[in-house]
Amino acid sequence: MATKKLATKKAVVKKSKRAVASKVKPAKGKLGVMVVGLGAVATTMIAGVEAVRRGLAKPIGSLTQMGTIRLGKRTDSKSPLIKDFVPLADLNDLVFTGWDIFKDNVYEAAVHAAVLDKDTLTQLKPYLEKIKPMPAVFDQYYVKRLNGTYVKKGKNKRDLANQIIADIQAFKKTVDRVVMIWCASTEIYLEPTAVHQTIKSFEKGLENDDIGIAPSQIYAYAALTQGVPFANGAPMVTVDCPVMVELSKKYSAPICGKDFKTGQTFMKTVLAPGLKARMLGVKGWFSFNMLGNRDGEVLDDPESFRSKEVSKMGSLDYIFQPELYPDLYKDIYHKVRINYYPPRGDDKEAWDNIDIFGWLNYPMQIKVNFQCKDSILAAPVALDLVLFLDLAQRTPELRSRGIQEWLSFYLKSPQTADGLYPEHDLFIQSMKLKNTLRHIMGEDLITHLGLEYYD
Ligand SMILES: NC(=O)c1ccc[n+]([C@@H]2O[C@H](COP(=O)([O-])OP(=O)(O)OC[C@H]3O[C@@H](n4cnc5c(N)ncnc54)[C@H](O)[C@@H]3O)[C@@H](O)[C@H]2O)c1
Repeated sequence: MATKKLATKKAVVKKSKRAVASKVKPAKGKLGVMVVGLGAVATTMIAGVEAVRRGLAKPIGSLTQMGTIRLGKRTDSKSPLIKDFVPLADLNDLVFTGWDIFKDNVYEAAVHAAVLDKDTLTQLKPYLEKIKPMPAVFDQYYVKRLNGTYVKKGKNKRDLANQIIADIQAFKKTVDRVVMIWCASTEIYLEPTAVHQTIKSFEKGLENDDIGIAPSQIYAYAALTQGVPFANGAPMVTVDCPVMVELSKKYSAPICGKDFKTGQTFMKTVLAPGLKARMLGVKGWFSFNMLGNRDGEVLDDPESFRSKEVSKMGSLDYIFQPELYPDLYKDIYHKVRINYYPPRGDDKEAWDNIDIFGWLNYPMQIKVNFQCKDSILAAPVALDLVLFLDLAQRTPELRSRGIQEWLSFYLKSPQTADGLYPEHDLFIQSMKLKNTLRHIMGEDLITHLGLEYYD
């Protein structure tokens, strides 16, 4: 009798799992990826995807491609690859296009970015040179250090938005689904104003050329109104304002937070949770960077740097929660510096000096010297965001929720619902992401309680 009951219960669980999972639409056909800004990160992502497709390299750094997910109990030994567990677009089905303020095709832009070596680029040249940018929406007021030569003209911002919409509609005819990702330069720091509050005020602002509407928001508006999910790899508040959240929900076009979490902030969100878990105090955290790529040149302008600074500063406060632990974290001196140093190109060097204290207040120091390749770290993050936003849009439970907080894992500035503080701790973010995948596929969530192993 007991066995029969258990069997029925199992069948019900299985059935409900299938019912939920079957709701996620399969990733049929081609996924179009519209990339704003075909610079170092974008070309490294596109070239990397093609190299993986041809079997020239493994997709290292990409959770969607290499990561596994545990299902059920530890004793079940069931850990499929994430891409076999959730219906993600296959890399072979990705089709890239994009916009830039320079006319270079993706091969030329990749050579200019000097991230990947010549041999790799030569092998991929026939594919890469076919991807040519469309003229961009750009205004030097928002990126002082660049002077675009391949730029759309329009009678006002509404007209420019319509031109991006026309680009999207034309591309949509050639693929089955579309995602847009901002891999373009960091714009100056702007906070949302009255124009960003409602769809009506924003659309009026487009007509009136409101100065508060940056080019990135013209792209985002065009994407969302066309039902295209939008990811923001840079630190501006592009979709972090009420109008974009409203558009995202209205058109079922998911959005997420901003600024790829790659080098220094990635390390911060690994180390800080560890220090806090052990109740070690922190007096100061000095973060220094030098980089010599075009991103570094743009960030050399104080107004663009301000966008980055705000984005980079947030993580420590949220992780350490000084209001809960005043004895340990009340007066942390946190400083972030970014220096443009051309000889290093994309090979960024980050130095962190952390002044900590332990038992009986005894002081200690931690030094982190991360000699990273900026775009090598960012490319798989950009790819995963594209694939997961596409998944979110095919998932009934996620598609009309607007902000996808479960993608915080990839971002320096996670976006959240009003009144909710963001999770910066990488390990909480990772758990949140994987539990979201289990949830949408009708699997049990994993809490790591584990008492059942000791019954
Ligand atoms: N590499 C990283 O680790 C990392 C991490 C976090 C964030 N980011 C951000 O990602 C973005 C891209 O970084 P990158 O190293 O590739 O920079 P990049 O300068 O090499 O590329 C940016 C490209 O965007 C183009 N562009 C500028 N404004 C544009 C517009 N309005 N429309 C279309 N194209 C435009 C530029 O011409 C350039 O080709 C930057 O905002 C950077 O801050 C990078």
